[in-house]
Amino acid sequence: MRRKIVAGNWKMNKNYHEGMELVAEAMHMINDELNTEVLTIFASPFIHLANVQKLINGYSNFATAAQNCHHENSGAYTGEIAASMIHSIGASYVLIGHSERRQYFKEDHAMLAKKVDVALENHLSPIFCFGELKEERENAKHFEVVANQLKESLYHLDATAFSKIILAYEPVWAIGTGLTASPEQAQEMHAFIRSNIETQFGKEVAVNCSILYGGSCNPQNAKTLFSQPDIDGGLIGGASLKSRDFTTIVTSFNSI
Ligand code: PGA
Repeated sequence: MRRKIVAGNWKMNKNYHEGMELVAEAMHMINDELNTEVLTIFASPFIHLANVQKLINGYSNFATAAQNCHHENSGAYTGEIAASMIHSIGASYVLIGHSERRQYFKEDHAMLAKKVDVALENHLSPIFCFGELKEERENAKHFEVVANQLKESLYHLDATAFSKIILAYEPVWAIGTGLTASPEQAQEMHAFIRSNIETQFGKEVAVNCSILYGGSCNPQNAKTLFSQPDIDGGLIGGASLKSRDFTTIVTSFNSI
């Protein structure tokens, strides 16, 4: 059965000392309070990742993720980071397709498909992020947009490769805005995504795929969101920067 997952995406926040303190505090509280098999992932900035990985080594309920990788394996790309480098420090995951990468760094469907391939080749599981803009939902295009994002960047994979992907549905209008999708809106979209995967890859792959929700998820709304049958956890931005808030979100599974 699919895994429950909460991933904290720090974005471009936290210096080294702040980051180490956040991880140490969150690990301590989560290990004290959690009584379920939730996987907690820290997606820190690249520069802290190897040190975060050292803190979590030996704990099967924690993992690290990079926030991005380059779409080529290696080469003359000054300032970029390759999937093989991320894997070599012990990280298991990489965010691909976050809306901020799509918007500010012009990452399109084809580039994201290449990033997915290079991540998988290098034994990283992509956490593939996607979701519609505000105008697209207002014009009732959200299902079409989401289906197209999946098709263009993921549906070239075979079922075995796809089964390594974690999905993160993040409506862009909900990211960092304080406007969360209602549990009903999120569940409706997650059910649509799962049925779309079933059509493409079959029932077993669809049932086993973890689909996270992201966009202003916080300690107050996490439990209701995570209680929905097709929501398997969250990708958390702002609320992952405070150890107490992040822990409350992770442990909200305890009472579901
Ligand atoms: P937010 O960000 O929780 O601050 O809305 C979520 C994300 O961008 O992954």
